Amino acid sequence: MTQPALSHDAAPNFHSAFAADVRAGLTHTPQKELPSKYLYDEVGSALFEVITVLPEYGVTRAEEHLLAKHATDIVEHFPHDLTVAELGSGSGRKTRRILEALCKKRPTSYCPIEISRSALQLCRRELGDIERISIVGYGRDYLAGLAEVSKKREANDRLLVLFLGSTIGNFCRLAATRFLRDIRNMLKPGDALLLGTDLIKPTPTLIAAYDDSVGVTASFNLNLLARINRELDGDFPLDAFEHVARFNPDAHSVEMHLRAKRDVMAHVGAAKLTVMMKAGETIWTESSHKYRAEEMAAIAHDASFECSHQWIEDKWGFAESLLVAR
Ligand code: AVI
Repeated sequence: MTQPALSHDAAPNFHSAFAADVRAGLTHTPQKELPSKYLYDEVGSALFEVITVLPEYGVTRAEEHLLAKHATDIVEHFPHDLTVAELGSGSGRKTRRILEALCKKRPTSYCPIEISRSALQLCRRELGDIERISIVGYGRDYLAGLAEVSKKREANDRLLVLFLGSTIGNFCRLAATRFLRDIRNMLKPGDALLLGTDLIKPTPTLIAAYDDSVGVTASFNLNLLARINRELDGDFPLDAFEHVARFNPDAHSVEMHLRAKRDVMAHVGAAKLTVMMKAGETIWTESSHKYRAEEMAAIAHDASFECSHQWIEDKWGFAESLLVAR
């Protein structure tokens, strides 16, 4: 399972791709799995917004804190005219600090890249009031959107790519490096990537972050089966499943699973699929990889970047790394 891109309401042929991925994932042996990008329909995206403010989930708060504290310092690294591209615009809350600091110095073009058009609209509403900003949204997947932004930028502009929120953690380590390399291939030397990564921390803290006491993360995870029922003519009995968060010490990741509480038989009409599960069997729905801050230099180097600066939030454990294209 390698692919994290958040997506919900856009792509043509989405329905058949979703059905094909569900079929492939639920017939995968020995471990059934579903791609984490399908967690983000309208309900899932709303639940994720709630997760970001839960007391147990420190990721978003730590990054907001870092960006609020260091935005001026971060933008000092860019004395040139800039186009800013963001992979996955989210609510725009975190990005505001960086954009305000940049626009104070000079007019700046901001290009959020996000497959969900409703998220792009939200982002334009959230950030459109910043003085001297021009916002052009790209309703594309990350790499296709970035290729377009890179090609269309003003000749003298450097490109700053933002990949925040530790979304890179939803790729396995190998795929993360491959993805950074793909990004690098669209940049020119001197362009840069600002990358947010959640850091390794004690296992109980991590488990609580992905299995909160109110059950929001459990609902976020279970919504994936509810979504299959809604959109793909499925009949998963939701009460037969429970949310599980477990730490994988080899991968340094927190895995989310959906565990069958009893033997289950379910159908997914649009995928022409019958699913049989034994009590205790799980469907793996997401991994969130955690990093050591020092790892970033080597990962950056493997992808032809240089890690030129890092800002660390120590209380929760989060790093913002500035990777410059070599
Ligand atoms: C989007 N992504 C970085 C979140 C994470 O922490 O891996 C998704 C998430 N899943 C459960 N809680 C949050």
